[in-house]
Amino acid sequence: MTALSIRNLHAHYGKSHVLTGVDMAMDQGEIVAVLGRNGSGRSTMLKTIVGLVTPSAGSVRLGDHELAGAPAHRIVRHGISFVPEERLVFDFLTVEENLQVGQQPPVAGAPAWTIEQMYSYFPRLKERRWTKAGNLSGGEQQMLTLCRSLLCHPRIILIDEPTEGLAPKIVEGLVDVMQDIARRGVGIVLVEQKMTIALRIAGRCLVMGRGQIVFEGTPEALRGDAQTRRNWLEVA
Ligand SMILES: Nc1ncnc2c1ncn2[C@@H]1O[C@H](COP(=O)(O)OP(=O)(O)OP(=O)(O)O)[C@@H](O)[C@H]1O
Ligand SMILES: [Mg+2]
Repeated sequence: MTALSIRNLHAHYGKSHVLTGVDMAMDQGEIVAVLGRNGSGRSTMLKTIVGLVTPSAGSVRLGDHELAGAPAHRIVRHGISFVPEERLVFDFLTVEENLQVGQQPPVAGAPAWTIEQMYSYFPRLKERRWTKAGNLSGGEQQMLTLCRSLLCHPRIILIDEPTEGLAPKIVEGLVDVMQDIARRGVGIVLVEQKMTIALRIAGRCLVMGRGQIVFEGTPEALRGDAQTRRNWLEVA
């Protein structure tokens, strides 16, 4: 079943035309990696899907619902969560309070998550549950941001460069968690700069160039497509 379907999505910042017609579709439980050079529009695509940037044209359908142009809070309630690159935690609340504040009622048809499950994914957060979030390391704040998004019980979760700046061991833990989330039926759109990680965990890869999807295929197909990598990924 197609969970998320995006057709001819456009977005502008003022006069700057950043998304120039994005098409993609994905199923629940799929991991789709979005690759591309800096400035190719990957973050804008995620923000436009969740309503943080208003689309100038196009369609974002989740199941039977058309969500393009809907306010961000409504899109979250329909089951699309966003984990931004910048950490979104309340500095003056504890880890536990951040999770409690973030927890939403279950969404029909989507896997439900608990605070205990978050602590079993990230034992470090459990150890620090009474610490104010402002005193956590950057990596811990990143984990907490992901947990807060999961506690909205998404069908689809959009994650923007989660491994950026994290130690290799923490990256491995995060990869395990993302794979488990997908196994439980949540679709993941993962913007990931580290090609090796993207190719390892994604079932399908998209490459963005100039605000559109310029390649779609399996990790193996992208590995074998030197021209796409040269034209759209490698820095000259
Ligand atoms: N709030 C904004 N206002 C104006 N222009 C923006 C804004 N955000 C992004 N842009 C521009 O839109 C283009 C796409 O940016 P976007 O952040 O989507 O790219 P990206 O692929 O996520 O790259 P990266 O994360 O490496 O910056 C870039 O040219 C960027 O400078
Ligand atoms: Mg970005």
